[in-house]
Order: sequence, then structure tokens, then C-alpha cells
Amino acid sequence: MITIHELRRKYIEFFKARGHAEISGKSLIPENDPTVLFTTAGMHPLVPYLLGEPHPAGKRLTDYQKCIRTGDIDSVGDPSHLTFFEMLGNWSLGDYFKKEALTWSFEFLTSPEYLGIPAENISVTVFAGDESVPRDEESASIWRSLGIPEERIYYLPREDNWWGPAGTTGPCGPDSEMFVDTGKPACGPDCRPGCHCGKYFEVWNDVFMQYNKKADGTYEPLAHPCVDTGMGIERTVAMLQGKKSVYETEAFTPILAVLESITGKRYGAEGNDPEIDRSFRIIADHVRASTFILGDPKAVTPSNVGAGYVLRRLIRRAVRHGRKLGIDGLFLARPAQAVIDIYGEPYPELVENQARILEELEREERKFLETLQKGEHEFEKMLPNLLRNASHVMPGRLAFKLYDTYGFPIELTEELAHEHQLTVDRAGFDEAFRKHQELSRAGSEQVFKGGLADHSEIVTRYHTATHLLHKALRMVLGEHVAQKGSNITAERMRFDFSHPAPLTREEIEQVEAIVNQQIARDLPVSMEIMPLEDAKASGAIALFGEKYEPIVKVYTIGDFSKEVCGGPHVTHTGELGTFKIIKEQSSSAGVRRIYAVLN
Ligand code: ALA
Repeated sequence: MITIHELRRKYIEFFKARGHAEISGKSLIPENDPTVLFTTAGMHPLVPYLLGEPHPAGKRLTDYQKCIRTGDIDSVGDPSHLTFFEMLGNWSLGDYFKKEALTWSFEFLTSPEYLGIPAENISVTVFAGDESVPRDEESASIWRSLGIPEERIYYLPREDNWWGPAGTTGPCGPDSEMFVDTGKPACGPDCRPGCHCGKYFEVWNDVFMQYNKKADGTYEPLAHPCVDTGMGIERTVAMLQGKKSVYETEAFTPILAVLESITGKRYGAEGNDPEIDRSFRIIADHVRASTFILGDPKAVTPSNVGAGYVLRRLIRRAVRHGRKLGIDGLFLARPAQAVIDIYGEPYPELVENQARILEELEREERKFLETLQKGEHEFEKMLPNLLRNASHVMPGRLAFKLYDTYGFPIELTEELAHEHQLTVDRAGFDEAFRKHQELSRAGSEQVFKGGLADHSEIVTRYHTATHLLHKALRMVLGEHVAQKGSNITAERMRFDFSHPAPLTREEIEQVEAIVNQQIARDLPVSMEIMPLEDAKASGAIALFGEKYEPIVKVYTIGDFSKEVCGGPHVTHTGELGTFKIIKEQSSSAGVRRIYAVLN
């Protein structure tokens, strides 16, 4: 029976044998993409290359990529939605197109040497066409030539057969999806690929990237159409193993076994309350995602903003479901260790960062348990008044106060209320919650939904300014300055770097002056492709802890800076305008953060 590790290996080997270079998957935290918190698909780190930047490893690429999707966090716990998953992919950057992509997909799925799925169990979908893009007859005819009969080719509209952009802008195009018929009876006359009854299992998506969706909503044809494909490892292995869900595969069974030994309960035992099994799944999913986030080289830790906030929610939700299963004390380190054991080989960063993962999990778990105690204490203070009220209803506003001020979850408020023969005005709580959300939504909705950066001119300018700032900081503060992170929006740039103390007014002014001098010199920006070792030997700055390919791109800005970087960049620094630092603050211990603008 094929395992997750075998599928990963087979896939990469298959495409390497067909002229693809294996590249390493990237961080879970995207660089220079202001509109998302996490890497959401295998293509995500490749956006600049899909838009035409040359990739140092060539035009045919393959990899496995860790991904996180937080959009449907409340669906997690059902048998198919995962927060963290691995995606296999192969890409053509302006090289091959539909014929090769579909033919290889078919061969990998059906060849006995690879997945050996009987061809008669495969159904496919292709884009049905609309007013702006015609029906994808070409893909349909390729499928027919591969032996898929007309009745198993489904023509579906844009909502099914169009992929991307992941957010508001970026590469996108019609796609063709492959489904395996599990043999279950159809749920009705309309049952077809894409139906969620479980008959059809989606295993692969081949996207034909032909457009770049711009910020103004228009579609600009890509100069070189590309292929982007994605196969979810967990789902595909569940199907190949004939399992009911991903939770029955070795991606999860060791984690669930640890939870069983902690709780003394059995996952999926006959007669289990479905809520018990759901809690098992939520803990397993959330611990897995949290372990990967904490183990990432970008070192996100729980906080109240951005990716750190998602991490905090995942950990706290896992703790809460642990309590539902009767766990009282600290427990998350044990299932996290199981995650590290399963994935340590393909993701060595988990082993390298093991101590940090386990410590941070425990720290957050402790904090949350304290929060729970505080919330319980506050509830007890409210109690005499609540009991005096003849209605025995706790106003939603008070439940919301516990939630908002102490982070106390509504379910626990309801539980406590119940113990005292009170009920909570849930509608009132929901109303207060909704009002609060509306206020905070404007800023955060975009990033939670996921989306890709607009690689527009302004973002490119900030990208080049980042190199100038990095070098200027090293000149003013010293060579210990190293980039720890960066984030660019159309309005500003943010740059994190190692330095032990706040910058003085003079230091800030010196840095600004140096950057503006380089802009005034209108230095040319050039790019060379070379082996990583040569790049380092030539003095190019490479980020410590970042995974690089053996062959990299090096951007040189006149005689001023040289960095290993994926680009894109402007061609002359004169395009940048005036550089100004608008804020300097602490980011974390030993790391400073600068916000700057170009005007
Ligand atoms: N980018 C495509 C997906 O995520 C392949 O399905």
C-alpha cells in the first residue's frame, strides 16, 4: 500500500525523469506578499516566475510544498478539510502546455509503475467556456486521445474549472481536474465530479495559466502561457489506500494514537459520540499545522496579529477540544512530537527546530490555561447578579465581554452558565461579535481569505528599496545586521533585521541619506544566474536559514549591493523616488522593525 512518503518520492522521480528540476519547497510564510499570511498552494512561491521572471533552475520544475489554508477553519474536523496539507506540483514556465501536462498526468495516475489507477475509474472536467474565454476543446480532445470516453469528460463553468488567482491579483486560467470514481453509488441524477457525496475523489488539478489578473479586475494575457499543477498528498493517499478519510492514513494515525493514550478514549470507536471523533480530528489537524508553523525557518510565534494570531487560534482551539476529551493539563507537546517523527525526514526543519516547537506550544498552552482560569474567576464575580435575575439568562453583552477582554471562549461561558442553571443569550452574543468583527474586518479580511500580491511597479520598487535599505543598515550599524523578514504592500515596506538596540535619530537619518544617495546615482540593477557557492564567494548577501536552490539569481545594484534574490526589481534605482523611514520599533528580542515609504 502506497504511503505519503512513497507518493512524494514517486511523483518527484516521475517528473525528474521527464526533464523537470526538483526545487525545494519554500517557507509557509510568503516573502513579499502582502495579501496572504500563509503559502496556500504549490504555485504560490512561483508567482514571479509564472509571470515571466526566469527561474534559475530552468523552465520545468517539480517540488512538494507545505501549505496552509485558513479560509474554512470552522470546517476543520469534518473528514476532509485540512488546515495544513502538502501539495505536489509540476510546472512549465512557458515551456510545454496542455498536451504534455495532461498526458503525463494520465500516465502517472494509470501506469502500474506509478499509481496504477484503472483508467476506467478516471473522470475529468474541462472548462466549459464563457463570454471571455472559449470552451477548452483542446483539453477535451487530448483526454479523448488518451482513452477517456466522452461520457466521462465533464464541461464545467468558471466556478469549477478556473483556477486562481489565489486572491485578488496574479496568474490564473482554465483548468482540468482529474477525479477517481470510488465505486460508491451515485447520490442522485446530478451526481458528477465535484459532488461532495464521496463518490468522486479529486486527485489532481492541471491549471493552464494564460492570464494575469490585474488589480483593476482586467485580465492581461501572459506572454508565455504556463502550466501549474497540484496534487494534495493526504487526500490522494487516502483514496489510494481505500481509506474513508485522510485521518485513517499514516499522516494522522500516529498523532491520533498519542491522543488515545492520553485520553483513554478511542478515535472512531463504535458507539462514539460524533463530537468525540470530531474533537480528535480537530486536535490532530491543529497540532499538525501548529507544529509546521512553529518549525518554519521564518519562526512565527503565537501573537495577536497576522500569522501569529492564526497560530494562537489553532493552539487554543486544540486545547479547548482537549478539555472536551477530558484532558486537564498540558498535553500538546506529545502529539507534536508525533508530527515531528512522521515528517522529520522530508522536512528537516522540524527536527532542527524541535526544541522551539515544543517550548512555544507549551508556553501558549500555559497562557491559555491561565486565561481560562481568569475567565472563570470573572464569571464567578458576575454570578451573584446573574442569579438574582429572574430570567436566568446571561446577557450576550456580558458573554462577549468575557470573550473580548479575557479571550474566554463562548462555549466555555455556556458550559459554566449551564452548571448554574443559566442560559446564555447566544443571539445577543453573536450580535456583539458581529459588530466587533465589522469594525476589525476592513483590515484583516483580505489576508484571511488569502490572495496574491499585485506584482505591480510599486511593489517592484519597494523590492529594490529593500536591498538598498539592507546594505545601508549594514554600513551604519555593522555587519551583524541580517534581514529577518520583509513585507511589502502598495503603500509601504516593512523590514525586520537583527540589531540589539533601538536606532538613534542620527542612525535613521544616516540610513535614509545613504539610500537616497544610491537612488540619486541612478545605479543600474542587473541579474546573473550562478551556483549558490559562487554567489556566496562573490560576496552576495544570502539570508541565513533560507533554503536556496543550488543555482540562484543574484541581483547587483551598481557598486552598492549584491544579494541572492528571486526578484523582480527595477532596472535603475532612479525609478524609486524618495526613501523615508516612517517608523522604527522592536519586532522581537534582538530584532528591530522598520517601516518605510517611497514618495
Ligand atoms: N494551483 C492549483 C491548485 O492549487 C494547481 O489546485
